[in-house]
Amino acid sequence: MTITQLGYLGLGVGDVAKWEEFASDILGVVISERSDDGSLYLRMDEYHHRFILHPDGADDVAYVGWQTPTKAAFDEVHLNLKNAGVTFRAGTSEELDSRKVMDMISFEDPDGLQTEVFHGALVQPDAAFQPRRPIKGFVTGNMGLGHIVLNVNDLEKGTAFYRDVLGLKISDFVEINRPDRQLKMSFFHCNPRHHSLALASRAAGTQGPRISHFMVEVQSLDDVGATYYLCQEKNVPIATSLGRHTNDHMVSFYMLCPSGFRVEYGCEGRLVDDATWTIQHYTTGSLWGHKPVPASQSSVPAPSSR
Ligand SMILES: [Fe+2]
Repeated sequence: MTITQLGYLGLGVGDVAKWEEFASDILGVVISERSDDGSLYLRMDEYHHRFILHPDGADDVAYVGWQTPTKAAFDEVHLNLKNAGVTFRAGTSEELDSRKVMDMISFEDPDGLQTEVFHGALVQPDAAFQPRRPIKGFVTGNMGLGHIVLNVNDLEKGTAFYRDVLGLKISDFVEINRPDRQLKMSFFHCNPRHHSLALASRAAGTQGPRISHFMVEVQSLDDVGATYYLCQEKNVPIATSLGRHTNDHMVSFYMLCPSGFRVEYGCEGRLVDDATWTIQHYTTGSLWGHKPVPASQSSVPAPSSR
């Protein structure tokens, strides 16, 4: 395998101050650095950062950083891109400084999203990670930061690119075809996490952010449940109720971040063993729950006296 984890995400945001509050008080991640240009680095494990927030007002994903474990694997990605006729360039010294990696290349995926492959991420083993609020911590390490789901115009083209050129492996597919909901998705893994990436077909003629959502996984169901109620107490909009997904078995809910897109907060995601994994497909997204929550009902009244 050439790419072994989703290393970092770059987000363009409109309101960095709101994001800082959301990241610290709701997600429980740590602000590890602020740049002179106003960018904010978010830390969730031994890595210096897993997210970089750029104050550009886009409120969308700016770039996705995929990590290779070695220089040899990094070079192999070059070769695969070259053989596929994909134009790429080496990261500039400013970009290497910004991402805090030793080596990086940059190119566009079939939907035009800035995609980066790197090796040699900066870690901070000298300062043990402590979540910003009392949760057990995140499921990261060699499984990367979590997952990202992207809205794409051409699902087949995107699926072929990530599978055949970048070398991610198909986990499974979801195709929902109900009168009230049509959706086709491809799920990819590059380590035991069920998916680090999923692509969702954008309904023809619709527009909106590239990002559907990103997911962070915590170590405890209690932390998912407690965060669900914390969101309601703090008036963070809930997009969908608690539920368990069909394919990755994740117990999660979706909240809206200050940029207006969804963030999935989950636990108990199942692991993929490539020796035994068989690709399947699903016609539903959830075993139970994950019901849309109208904005007017996404916060709870003050606790009763019980
Ligand atoms: Fe998800």
